[in-house]
Amino acid sequence: MAFVSSLVILSLVLVFGVIVPRIEARPRAFFVFGDSLVDSGNNNYLLTTARADSPPYGIDHPTHKPTGRFSNGFNIPDLISQELGAESPLPYLSPEFRGEKLLIGANFASAGVGILNDTGAQFLNVIRMYKQLEYFKRYQNRVSSIIGTSKTKSLVNQALVLISAGGNDFVNNYYLIPNSTRSQQYPLPQYVKLLISEYQKLLQKLYDLGARRVIVTGTGPMGCAPAELAQRNRKGTDGLQLAAALFNPQLQQILSQLNNKIGTDVFIAANTARMHNNFVSNPTSFGFKTSKVACCGQGPYNGLGLCTPFSNLCPDRNLNAFWDAFHPTEKANRLIVEEIMSGSKTYMNPMNLSTILALDAST
Ligand SMILES: *[C@@H]1O[C@H](CO)[C@@H](O)[C@H](O)[C@H]1NC(C)=O
Ligand SMILES: *[C@@H]1O[C@H](CO)[C@@H](O)[C@H](O)[C@H]1NC(C)=O
Ligand SMILES: *[C@@H]1O[C@H](CO)[C@@H](O)[C@H](O)[C@H]1NC(C)=O
Repeated sequence: MAFVSSLVILSLVLVFGVIVPRIEARPRAFFVFGDSLVDSGNNNYLLTTARADSPPYGIDHPTHKPTGRFSNGFNIPDLISQELGAESPLPYLSPEFRGEKLLIGANFASAGVGILNDTGAQFLNVIRMYKQLEYFKRYQNRVSSIIGTSKTKSLVNQALVLISAGGNDFVNNYYLIPNSTRSQQYPLPQYVKLLISEYQKLLQKLYDLGARRVIVTGTGPMGCAPAELAQRNRKGTDGLQLAAALFNPQLQQILSQLNNKIGTDVFIAANTARMHNNFVSNPTSFGFKTSKVACCGQGPYNGLGLCTPFSNLCPDRNLNAFWDAFHPTEKANRLIVEEIMSGSKTYMNPMNLSTILALDAST
């Protein structure tokens, strides 16, 4: 009896006195999935052409070095981590991703990927969405071997998750070339339906793997990115605008359906297209000089080719909404994360991140 109760006390001490407070004192974990808008450097470790590991990428990062982020400085996940009071989770493929670093969370995103496996084929070796989810499972096994299964489960259940996908399925697949295979296979509305139904499966999988708070962004800026302006391909640009207009509302719809099925608000729609549109249509009121010309690039609007050491580079990155032909500057990322934090229901549905953090802190 005495033996049993000292065992009970010992385990109480272990559970409540030592281990739990150490984990609970940490900010919640953060997991990131998707494409280049949220990749923090996984592609540095892959044989792919979709990479951001040479200057001037990272020029305004605290290290002033390229990190693999498609930004002059911080990207959207970094700025969300700062709001959580946490370090940025490391790229899953980074050699430094081990030990205690695992408990911060993980970034599985890979530039160039889309919802469909054939999207981004031209970039060769990228981590497709189904693979990112497989890695998430492997990650959980690794963490389980350090802190045990049940603590791993609560770490994952209590985490914040961000996923960004869909843009490349249009830009780097359907509209990549005139008469692409996918565009011959499907008229746009049917293609959007295919994407939505495949995305729904991925999100369900994410839930099955333990995700309980998932921010889902819509397509990024597609039709208005410098790359599209530079090509002056009216058909493509109109197509991309139409694609976003079809895709984003249907995405929001399946997120509510999933929430209804689950019985609680797991999935949160972040209307990043609308967030972008605000500063694209009215750059000066957000402190930008231009929302059309990329900071780094060449050709019209600096929208042709890649951002390389030989490209034009604007002197003040806070004056441009776009960093390269496709991706926002750190300044634009800050505006987006401000809306994610405190935007109204038109931007964040059913609720913004401040509300989520307040709700989860009280339960
Ligand atoms: C992508 O490929 C994986 C592995 O072959 C497969 O399980 C998955 O269903 C595919 N996804 C789509 C959308 O085709
Ligand atoms: C695309 O296909 C249509 C009809 O199949 C054809 O008329 C057109 O010339 C093709 N365009 C290109 C650029 O191949
Ligand atoms: C967040 O959303 C709620 C509910 O829509 C709203 O009342 C609040 O003003 C928003 N911002 C913050 C910072 O909570």
